[in-house]
Amino acid sequence: MLEILDLQDVTVRRGSNEILSHVSWQVLAGERWVVMGSNGAGKTSLMQICSGFMHPTTGQAKILGYELGRTDVRELRTLVGISSAAVVALLPPEETVLDSILTSAYGISGRWRERYDQVDRDRAHALMSDWGLTNLSARRIGNLSEGERKRVQIARALMCDPELLILDEPAAGLDVGGREDLVARLAQLAGDENSPSLVLVTHHVEEIPPNFTHALLLKSGQVSARGHVSGVITSFLMSEAFGMALDVEYGDGRWHAQGKRPSRGRRAKG
Ligand SMILES: Nc1ncnc2c1ncn2[C@@H]1O[C@H](COP(=O)(O)OP(=O)(O)OP(=O)(O)O)[C@@H](O)[C@H]1O
Ligand SMILES: [Mg+2]
Repeated sequence: MLEILDLQDVTVRRGSNEILSHVSWQVLAGERWVVMGSNGAGKTSLMQICSGFMHPTTGQAKILGYELGRTDVRELRTLVGISSAAVVALLPPEETVLDSILTSAYGISGRWRERYDQVDRDRAHALMSDWGLTNLSARRIGNLSEGERKRVQIARALMCDPELLILDEPAAGLDVGGREDLVARLAQLAGDENSPSLVLVTHHVEEIPPNFTHALLLKSGQVSARGHVSGVITSFLMSEAFGMALDVEYGDGRWHAQGKRPSRGRRAKG
């Protein structure tokens, strides 16, 4: 099966810090991964490696068969869709939702004088329909709510028909309704065999959509667990990764977590 990501012993150093340390990770075509770990664990740095925006200091990273350091990353970046707060910050606030999605077909932000084919327009409209943006197509990016902006980010990332879609905290800042809407849409995306391979970074197990197949846990730049989602999103491995005792429960396709409740001792008499 085609390897989408193949990281071997990847270490990233900044000054005297190892922000990623000996990370080995393989993602095969069709897999849907969730990446979790506490603040500063190295998730965004790992996503930057996986999208060709950062290079390993040592070790080897192959993305869609392209080896970083031996390849033209500009070509690679057109094959990887990425949705993150850093990318949305680059969007001109006065641009409309439709233009913002269209420009992504060319890997740019901000319209200039480029011309779009009907096939691009059709794809942009189909994506707006999938992500609940049709009624917002003429609205300016700067005036959107957080939830609407998150959906634009994902539609943009899908516009170039990527082989790999990376979503770095797509539900951050959403209210419970917005989160549930997004989780349902992501579950649908993950369940569609024509979708690209998916990597979703999140802080909360409640945000893991049904149909995700695998999980990677990071702790202080190192992989602390990886494998099938049901074997990794467990009380034991999550407690280890987050450095606190957690109760993780699964039911009806969704996960829930909370701090471990102290077991009740016997009430003292008197
Ligand atoms: N360019 C850089 N120079 C120095 N340190 C960096 C650089 N980029 C990231 N770091 C550090 O590397 C560590 C990992 O950062 P990263 O953003 O990957 O974490 P994260 O898991 O995405 O965290 P969060 O959950 O808060 O988004 C942090 O301690 C961060 O300060
Ligand atoms: Mg991050």
